[in-house]
Amino acid sequence: MTEVSVAKEDKVATGELVVLNGVNKHFGALHVLQDIDLTIHRGEVVVVIGPSGSGKSTLCRTINRLETIDSGSITIDGKPLPAEGKELARLRADVGMVFQSFNLFAHKTVLENVTLGQAKVRKVDAKKAEEKARALLDRVGVGAQADKYPAQLSGGQQQRVAIARALAMGPKVMLFDEPTSALDPEMINEVLEVMKQLAEDGMTMIVVTHEMGFARSAANRVVFMADGRIVEEATPDQFFSNPRSDRAKDFLSKILHH
Ligand SMILES: Nc1ncnc2c1ncn2[C@@H]1O[C@H](COP(=O)(O)OP(=O)(O)OP(=O)(O)O)[C@@H](O)[C@H]1O
Ligand SMILES: [Mg+2]
Repeated sequence: MTEVSVAKEDKVATGELVVLNGVNKHFGALHVLQDIDLTIHRGEVVVVIGPSGSGKSTLCRTINRLETIDSGSITIDGKPLPAEGKELARLRADVGMVFQSFNLFAHKTVLENVTLGQAKVRKVDAKKAEEKARALLDRVGVGAQADKYPAQLSGGQQQRVAIARALAMGPKVMLFDEPTSALDPEMINEVLEVMKQLAEDGMTMIVVTHEMGFARSAANRVVFMADGRIVEEATPDQFFSNPRSDRAKDFLSKILHH
């Protein structure tokens, strides 16, 4: 075994789950991700915040390869992201993603939304997939809605179904990109509560959100991005009480006093 591969296995053993190393990404002339180094450990909850256009969504999308990168590397559990095919489908199952818009299949029932991927990608048989789906729907508090169609549910319920659907694949890490920002205020908490529970249960999570209460109570670390760079990383306590950079101070003064 070469020294390089030993080193890599050591890192996996110490719990590095998602590792971005020198990642760069351009959209034409726009350098949207600039030399991003970020390591997420197993069981860690990392909240990513920053101004609009700073690259938060692009960062999430590169991690499950909805976007390619120009240079650098991204590994999940010690393995580089696969480029295509079945390997890529499996990666997408390992990296659960919940977006701002609910993205449920409109013409499938809630239950079908949560069983489909299990059968297709994980080759789970129909009965097991249904059992798991019902258990997850119960866990996120929408068990009674299993036979309805997404349009018959509130936004908060739909978003909880989206979380159950991602969890059904048995992901190693969950990415959330502003999961509550399209919701009416009274539905935000029911989704945040499900996410907090997930964090307490030990799920590794990367969460883009402006919900500072969630960041304070559930995050192990806050990553602040501006202009495609990670400007600051700190514990929530450190970050909110004593931000170091002017960009972070400016950003916090805007979101905390509006
Ligand atoms: N597919 C694309 N083609 C070209 N430019 C893009 C594309 N996607 C994003 N961008 C640009 O890249 C920059 C970063 O976008 P991104 O969506 O990652 O920001 P964000 O931090 O998630 O912002 P927001 O808080 O508004 O969601 C923005 O300037 C955006 O206009
Ligand atoms: Mg975004």
